[in-house]
Amino acid sequence: MWFILILLHMGLQLPLSLSCPSRCVCFPNGDVTCTGAITEIPHLKANQTFRLKLNNTLITILNPQSFQALVFLQRVQISHSPLATIHPDAFHSASQLRSVVLSSNLISALPPRVFSSLWNLEQLHMDGNQLMSLHADTFKELGSLTDLNIKKNQIANLDARIFQDVTSLNHLNLCENLLQKIPQMLFHNLKQLKSLILYSNQLKTIEEGSFDHLHNLLTLMLHKNQIQEIPPRLFWHMPSLLTLTLSGNQLRYIPRETFYYLPNLTKLTLYKNPLISLPDQLVGHMPRLQELYLYNTNLTTVPWNLFANMTGLRALNLHFNEKLTSLPKDLFCCLPKLQKLSLKTNILQDLHQDQFSALTNLKTLLLSGNKLRSLSAKIFQNLHSLTELGLSNNKLNNLPGDIFVHVTALRSVTLGSNPWNCTCSILDIAEWIIENRNVVTDLHDVLCHEPYYLLNKQLVVLTSDSLKCGVTTTGDLASCFTGTITTSNVATNTLSPTTILSSHLTTTASTTEEVHIDVTKSSVFYDTVVLVNGPDIVHNNRHQRWVYLWTVPTTGLYSGFLMALHVVLIVTSVLLIIANAYALYRLHKALWETGMTLTRNQTIITKRLLSFNGKL
Ligand SMILES: *[C@@H]1O[C@H](CO)[C@@H](O)[C@H](O)[C@H]1NC(C)=O
Ligand SMILES: *[C@@H]1O[C@H](CO)[C@@H](O)[C@H](O)[C@H]1NC(C)=O
Ligand SMILES: *[C@@H]1O[C@H](CO)[C@@H](O)[C@H](O)[C@H]1NC(C)=O
Ligand SMILES: *[C@@H]1O[C@H](CO)[C@@H](O)[C@H](O)[C@H]1NC(C)=O
Ligand SMILES: *[C@@H]1O[C@H](CO)[C@@H](O)[C@H](O)[C@H]1NC(C)=O
Ligand SMILES: *[C@@H]1O[C@H](CO)[C@@H](O)[C@H](O)[C@H]1NC(C)=O
Repeated sequence: MWFILILLHMGLQLPLSLSCPSRCVCFPNGDVTCTGAITEIPHLKANQTFRLKLNNTLITILNPQSFQALVFLQRVQISHSPLATIHPDAFHSASQLRSVVLSSNLISALPPRVFSSLWNLEQLHMDGNQLMSLHADTFKELGSLTDLNIKKNQIANLDARIFQDVTSLNHLNLCENLLQKIPQMLFHNLKQLKSLILYSNQLKTIEEGSFDHLHNLLTLMLHKNQIQEIPPRLFWHMPSLLTLTLSGNQLRYIPRETFYYLPNLTKLTLYKNPLISLPDQLVGHMPRLQELYLYNTNLTTVPWNLFANMTGLRALNLHFNEKLTSLPKDLFCCLPKLQKLSLKTNILQDLHQDQFSALTNLKTLLLSGNKLRSLSAKIFQNLHSLTELGLSNNKLNNLPGDIFVHVTALRSVTLGSNPWNCTCSILDIAEWIIENRNVVTDLHDVLCHEPYYLLNKQLVVLTSDSLKCGVTTTGDLASCFTGTITTSNVATNTLSPTTILSSHLTTTASTTEEVHIDVTKSSVFYDTVVLVNGPDIVHNNRHQRWVYLWTVPTTGLYSGFLMALHVVLIVTSVLLIIANAYALYRLHKALWETGMTLTRNQTIITKRLLSFNGKL
């Protein structure tokens, strides 16, 4: 009996399953998907159709009968179809629907209250259609709606009251439309909103207070608009915000304190704005921000404390700013967690010797493609974790030989495409390059630019002989000094004939200053005597021998006075010596004359005595 019942039951079931229309697939759980040449909603068994997906069909119209039979239908999707017309009553008999997805069709207009019977509607997607405007009542009474997507249409205006009733909305996507402005009241009822997507529109301004009621917002995307100004307190009422995008706008200035009260922000984009300057107080405490990109701006410099509140930053990309010429000394003062810093392809000319001194965890530092002419020997001294360094494509013609001494973790450095000046003073860094040739990743691009007879010669093949400066001098300082005049500005006297020449000195004042610091504080010494421009004498001893060290800065305040004093002292001492010698000579002569007189007188006396004796 049971067996027969089961058979009967199956017999009933079989035709039901078979009743799934062609071009559709009906799943036992109530999912139905259809595709291809169907022009209207297929006839389906109501109690076996809970979710209906119609993709890539020929459906052009939804009429009042379309959903009438499908009383259990929960979610419907009609996409990639030529659907263009929706009857005002199309959904009137489908109030149970929770999702209506009508993406990528040809809908250009919606009847005013077409969705108003859908009290249960949670999700409404109209993205990828041709909507040019929306009636103020379009979303009337959709109190359950949480997810509204109108992306990729041609909407230029929105009525201020259009979102008045959708108070449960969590996600609102309006991106890739033609919106030029948003009414100040537009979002005021959306207190549950978590994400507001407005990128790729044509917004020029945003009125003050527009976002003031979005206390729960997590994501606000405003990039790729034409925003020229933002009101000062625009973002002050969104304490939970995690993501804020403002890149690709027309911002030239940003008001002070714009990014205050955003303690949970993890992503902030500002790149691709013609920013001319940034205010001193811009960013409030933002310890969760881990990455920041600031490129394609018109900034020439940035305020020293711009990043001071972004204490959690791991990666900072302040690069590709074709007008950025200088950085404040303390700019990176407060980024203890920073691991990657890219400053490449700006037009930086100088860096302060303490520019990076606080970045003790930095692993990657990219400085390529700037206009750096020289670097202080101390500039990398605190970067104990640095493994990757880019210095290629600058204007460097020399580097201090001990510049990388403290960068013990260094695994890769680029030095190519710099105009290396292959005079004797290059030998220090050349020696480092030779010893670390596996670290220099662009070794074959590290070429001499000067002098002309060494043009394009690789630095790694340089020897002190090829530079015509190594073992030429043996004698005293004076002979070196004449060498200065004939060959180069640098004359040397090596204490040991085999040592390689070295000098950090170039003719610029700034590097002279560096050397001054070097000599007094650094423990690294060189076994050479170097004369630069006459008065400067710097002597170092790398092998811990005795050191005679005397420097006079060429451009110092007292150098002229000191030199004059020196000359006066020498002249005075020479005069004293001559006077001394003359005095000795006169004394000697006087003594001799006295001696002669005495002898003569003695002879006379003796003779007289003798004659006197004879008379006696
Ligand atoms: C589905 O509905 C039909 C009538 O439309 C009814 O005969 C059938 O028993 C229902 N099946 C189920 C599984 O509820
Ligand atoms: C729907 O059809 C379009 C166009 O043929 C296709 O690109 C898309 O992947 C399909 N989507 C689904 C969910 O099948
Ligand atoms: C910030 O995030 C933390 C952890 O995710 C959360 O507990 C806190 O409530 C958030 N703060 C605000 C103001 O939303
Ligand atoms: C850092 O944030 C605090 C509080 O948010 C603020 O008082 C301070 O001025 C900010 N510093 C800078 C440099 O903006
Ligand atoms: C920013 O720089 C670009 C390129 O140099 C220039 O064309 C543009 O006019 C500048 N914008 C502003 C606002 O100065
Ligand atoms: C190269 O070095 C020599 C000697 O130090 C110097 O005279 C010359 O000016 C330097 N060239 C450049 C471009 O700095």
